[in-house]
Amino acid sequence: MNVVMLSPGFPDDMPYFTRALAAAGARVYGVGDQPVQALRPEVREALTDYLRVDDLWAEERTVRAVADWMRNRSIDRVECLWEPGMVLVARMREAFGVPGLTVEQTIPFRDKVRMKDVLDRAGLRTPQHARARTREEVWRAADRIGLPLIIKPVDGAGSADTYRCDTAPELDAAIAAMRHVPEVNVEEYVDGEEFTFDTISIGGHVAYENVAWYRPKPLVARLNEWISPGVIALRDLEPEPIRRGRELGRAVLSTLGWDTGIAHMEWFLNAQGDAVFGEIGGRAPGGRLTHVMNYASDVDLFRGWAEAVVHRTFSQQADRRYNAGAVFKRAHGTGRISAHEGLDHLLRRHGEHVAHLDLVPVGQPRRDWRQVVTGDGWVVVRHPDLATTIEIFDAFAAELRVLAS
Ligand SMILES: Nc1ncnc2c1ncn2[C@@H]1O[C@H](COP(=O)(O)OP(=O)(O)OP(=O)(O)O)[C@@H](O)[C@H]1O
Ligand SMILES: [Mg+2]
Repeated sequence: MNVVMLSPGFPDDMPYFTRALAAAGARVYGVGDQPVQALRPEVREALTDYLRVDDLWAEERTVRAVADWMRNRSIDRVECLWEPGMVLVARMREAFGVPGLTVEQTIPFRDKVRMKDVLDRAGLRTPQHARARTREEVWRAADRIGLPLIIKPVDGAGSADTYRCDTAPELDAAIAAMRHVPEVNVEEYVDGEEFTFDTISIGGHVAYENVAWYRPKPLVARLNEWISPGVIALRDLEPEPIRRGRELGRAVLSTLGWDTGIAHMEWFLNAQGDAVFGEIGGRAPGGRLTHVMNYASDVDLFRGWAEAVVHRTFSQQADRRYNAGAVFKRAHGTGRISAHEGLDHLLRRHGEHVAHLDLVPVGQPRRDWRQVVTGDGWVVVRHPDLATTIEIFDAFAAELRVLAS
């Protein structure tokens, strides 16, 4: 099988998915804007061929370039697990007659207002919302929806340009701060806990699923540098509120016509105990969550995805053995990392429950936590018992201090 894989080396987890496709027996044809030398060696090894384009997002040109390049070879699948490439791969599928979502089917995955409109029509619970282009339209929506509310770009990512407004002056300030965003989504603020729903599907059937709990909510993590945020993949998906989220997520997948591949959804559990849908990405989760899911079940979901795409099967036994939580650290201070304070003590206490430890080494420049989810390092802890997992997670969040000076 010949698979065209867009951006095979970027971002973070793409090399793992690319390598898994080759391991599943596919011939992988990479297309990206990175020079071939910038690809990690294992990506280069996994690729049968690589086409470098100057501007991957110049959609028509990229589709034509790939058509020329693949002229004498068949194209069986086109894949991209990076959000901005979703529409581009759909265009390629249409152009090359390859199975998978069309452009029309992909739009609701990229446009949060369209997505919620489709889900509302199917009777699924989403926050009340409206699309707005001007100050007047935002205010009209706010009058209808009421405060508190959220305003965010219709195609946002990483909680960028996302504001919670509790008062009229806050809403005015948010409108002023968002003048560079042409179109916004005004939404009822859903109070409560926030979760993911992550799936690998084959022909519309969910073959693997995961629910992870954000600690704290991504927006709070984005607004407060001092927090060590993270996410815990839950071992037990059967408690009633979690079941409600899974059912909602499955209904979303079938409403949107999702067929085969990995998807990442977000949902809220509100104060009344209702599951309210947040958003869906028709791609792998960010924030290293695929690794965290792997640690929860001792599986390889990079391989699981590739097997689903290439052979339409999911043969691994994904028993949920642990709660697995990732904590992301942000250094205190500026400049270079100078110490990992508290680490020795934490490892003495909890070392056997640490599955993964990857801190920016002493002497290296600290990272920009707004750009890099993993910040100045990440730790995965795991334990069969949730309360114990939370305790260890909180210990790494509070007592591990990455210092920079
Ligand atoms: N209606 C809402 N009620 C409460 N919180 C919200 C709401 N909409 C967004 N948020 C908060 O803002 C965050 C970012 O919003 P959302 O997930 O829609 O956008 P995003 O920037 O695309 O996120 P991602 O990083 O997942 O791509 C959410 O994770 C949540 O914490
Ligand atoms: Mg989100």
